[in-house]
Amino acid sequence: MTTRLRHLTRLLDLERAELAALIERADALRQGAEPRRFPDKILGLVFEKPSTRTRISFEAAAFRLGAGSVFMTQRDSQLQRGEPVRDTARVLGRYLDALALRTFAQETIEESARYAGVPVINALSDRYHPCQTIADLLTLQQHLGRFEGLRLVYLGDGNNVFASLAEAAALVDIDLVFCGPEGYDPDPDLVAEVRELGGRVTTIRDPEQAVAGADVLYTDVWTSMGQEEESERRRRDLASYQINRDLLSVAGDALVLHCLPAHRGEEITDDVIEGAQSRVFDQAENRMWAQMAVLEAIWSRE
Ligand code: CP
Ligand code: NVA
Repeated sequence: MTTRLRHLTRLLDLERAELAALIERADALRQGAEPRRFPDKILGLVFEKPSTRTRISFEAAAFRLGAGSVFMTQRDSQLQRGEPVRDTARVLGRYLDALALRTFAQETIEESARYAGVPVINALSDRYHPCQTIADLLTLQQHLGRFEGLRLVYLGDGNNVFASLAEAAALVDIDLVFCGPEGYDPDPDLVAEVRELGGRVTTIRDPEQAVAGADVLYTDVWTSMGQEEESERRRRDLASYQINRDLLSVAGDALVLHCLPAHRGEEITDDVIEGAQSRVFDQAENRMWAQMAVLEAIWSRE
């Protein structure tokens, strides 16, 4: 695969053809293609926030590529005592061959990319979650076999997960609909940037109107990590954007995605997540195949 992939700080670091190649490769790996081997590479994971899927799928991905991985949290490193991000990045870059960072601030990822001297991958920040989106697109490829003309309706908070889906709309031909209340809209500058690049992103406030004719319904938690103090207000404001059986019946046979972890009974009901239209566990599995493709691309370019 030819790619110029150096850092993945946000999905728009990729060009259309690069994203298409990553999805194609991830899909091949998912179906049993032989992974490339990188026995001399080590992936570093530096996480400021908890994780189940991202951490373990990255570690499993590295292992399946014959590479090593090391994991560090902010709490048990000198970052906790105030060592500057740029110093940490420069030191880790001397030991390791790529860094996957989960941070409160997007700026931490961008600063690390400027200083590390090795590829830096966004493993979730306050603004973006690009690795999630690549796995989401792989799940669409797996279950619907195309992107063109798909109507994906995202319900709830216009957060980091939505922002990366919006960036995807600039790179694949999906119709993305944001459906949430005022006050929870995605960053208007980002939406404008995506539209300038030709992406189709619209807002529809009414859930029933939004989901009619949808191919995919997608939601995420209403309270993201770091927003815990707002959770009561968020539960109140977002209550009518829950994906439940009634709303799903308006959407017909639409598939249901959720990046997980889910707060069952809030943004999605138990019966929907366990139901026949849910693809959330394939979606979670696809994190690993997608990240194998990302690591292959990063380590093959050298
Ligand atoms: N979807 C996702 O990023 O999950 P984790 O927080 O468990 O990594
Ligand atoms: N929006 C959520 C995603 C978790 C995977 C968060 O940032 O906490």
